[in-house]
Amino acid sequence: MEKIVEMENFSFSYGGEAIFYQFSFTMVAGDFCVILGPMGSGKTTLARILMGLEATHDYIKINNLFMNPKNLTEIRKNVKVVFENPIPFLSNSTVYQELAFALSKTDCETPEKKIRQFVQEFPIESLLSKNVFSLSNGEKQIVSLASALLQNPKLLVLDEALSLIDENKKEQILDFLKQENQKGLSILWLTNDSENLMYGNKFLFLDKGELIFSGKPEDVAKLEKELNSHHLELPFFIDLSKRLSYYGKCSEIPKDYKELVDQIWK
Ligand SMILES: Nc1ncnc2c1ncn2[C@@H]1O[C@H](COP(=O)(O)OP(=O)(O)OP(=O)(O)O)[C@@H](O)[C@H]1O
Ligand SMILES: [Mg+2]
Repeated sequence: MEKIVEMENFSFSYGGEAIFYQFSFTMVAGDFCVILGPMGSGKTTLARILMGLEATHDYIKINNLFMNPKNLTEIRKNVKVVFENPIPFLSNSTVYQELAFALSKTDCETPEKKIRQFVQEFPIESLLSKNVFSLSNGEKQIVSLASALLQNPKLLVLDEALSLIDENKKEQILDFLKQENQKGLSILWLTNDSENLMYGNKFLFLDKGELIFSGKPEDVAKLEKELNSHHLELPFFIDLSKRLSYYGKCSEIPKDYKELVDQIWK
């Protein structure tokens, strides 16, 4: 299977402090991978590395290209990283202008049409005419994510990029991201919230620059001890379903809240 990220025995330090030591991580094209890591575990550093902001190295390959100065421009076309703190916006522009600017960096010849189609599925239409400086922080995150998506990356890296978006919009955005993932977009979601663990097709746990354990969404329920030993909890609905199963109210571990409700009411 084609790999989108290959890191092999990669080491990285800030000054004298090793953040990653002989770190290996692979993502297959089409993966939706969630990396859960507590504060200071190296998530933002990893995001910066994957974008080529920290180290250019022959220990990293993105979409078959070695991360070296020769390939950086191409790699940055393929990888878009959305950070928790939104990108600096153009001065005094509307959200629409901001999206058009993002598209101007691509070879899209019909930006108006592309934005029109995009807003039919991605929840940003009500923001289009707003000035970017008037946006709330959650709205700014939505605009940053939209700008990244419109540039059609092969790999989208989310570094706590949905943390300020309200639950309702977040669900809509995650549905959109799942659709894009099914069409081939590889997604890496870096998060410190175990509630997000089940969204991808696989998850890994990062602590102090080391990948400690990994699994598939259906394995999450078995990981209570490991999570607890790192001061993390099971996702709430998994914990709830385990408790309900004790009283015979829930027969199998559900994959999301909707499935849990269906099991209780059937
Ligand atoms: N520019 C820097 N110079 C020196 N040390 C740094 C720098 N940036 C990060 N670090 C250190 O590297 C470690 C990993 O930081 P990083 O920002 O990648 O963690 P994180 O997992 O994103 O944390 P958080 O959940 O708080 O965002 C931390 O110990 C941090 O202090
Ligand atoms: Mg961070």
